[in-house]
Amino acid sequence: MNNPYIINTHSHVNMLKDTNIDSAIKNAQNSRIITIVPSSTAQDIFEVDSFIQKYNDLYGYVGVFPEEAKTFTDKTLNDMESIIRSNHKIIGIGEIGLDYYWDKSFIELQKEIFIKQIQFANQMNLPLNIHCRDAHFDTLDILKKYNKNSTAILHCFSGSLDFAKECIKEGIYIALGGVVTFKNAKKAKEVAQNIPIEYLLLETDDPYLTPVPYRGTENQPAYVSYVAQEIANLRNTTIDFIAAETTKNALKIFPKLSC
Ligand code: NI
Repeated sequence: MNNPYIINTHSHVNMLKDTNIDSAIKNAQNSRIITIVPSSTAQDIFEVDSFIQKYNDLYGYVGVFPEEAKTFTDKTLNDMESIIRSNHKIIGIGEIGLDYYWDKSFIELQKEIFIKQIQFANQMNLPLNIHCRDAHFDTLDILKKYNKNSTAILHCFSGSLDFAKECIKEGIYIALGGVVTFKNAKKAKEVAQNIPIEYLLLETDDPYLTPVPYRGTENQPAYVSYVAQEIANLRNTTIDFIAAETTKNALKIFPKLSC
């Protein structure tokens, strides 16, 4: 796409259930939205690889999600590498990271798999799309220690403004999604309002976290515009400005999107 309006940096559009996937993708295309689809398991990387090849304006990340760390084997990095080499629409490593919310029984394994994938992204010179839930300190600590040259994005950022500032000091980008539109999301609104715009990115994480006014129904990539509109309101500016600035940021991280 020559002139994207918004880049949705994290959408599981391949996982929609209540919505027709083709029409959800068309809705996004009609609004000049580019969508990037992460993978989550060692098997899912193959599915995302073939899924994104079927549609224009869809790109992907390969990576193993922390809760799925047990699916990661010695073979996984080889698989990821051959997918990246054969599919130019794979533009990052994700979603990877740490999640201490659901299950704390294999934290050490989560860390080990996170570090392996950071080192792999460094070798491949690709950005990182990071899931971090109830694990802010360890995530930042590992990135500081192990990440040499990959741009990192904290997807669905759930930390405080202070933590956001600490991340930005390390060059880490902050991606915000539907949560920012929720009435009670004080922290997310504060982050949206105050971080330097140069470090802001947009996403939906659909089918989850549907923004207002569609909360309660299934999310989809095109709803990223409600996220942009809410951030515009909070920053007292226009949606076009937020769209243009966040697109500029995303194109800097993912130069392949502009060709
Ligand atoms: Ni996700």
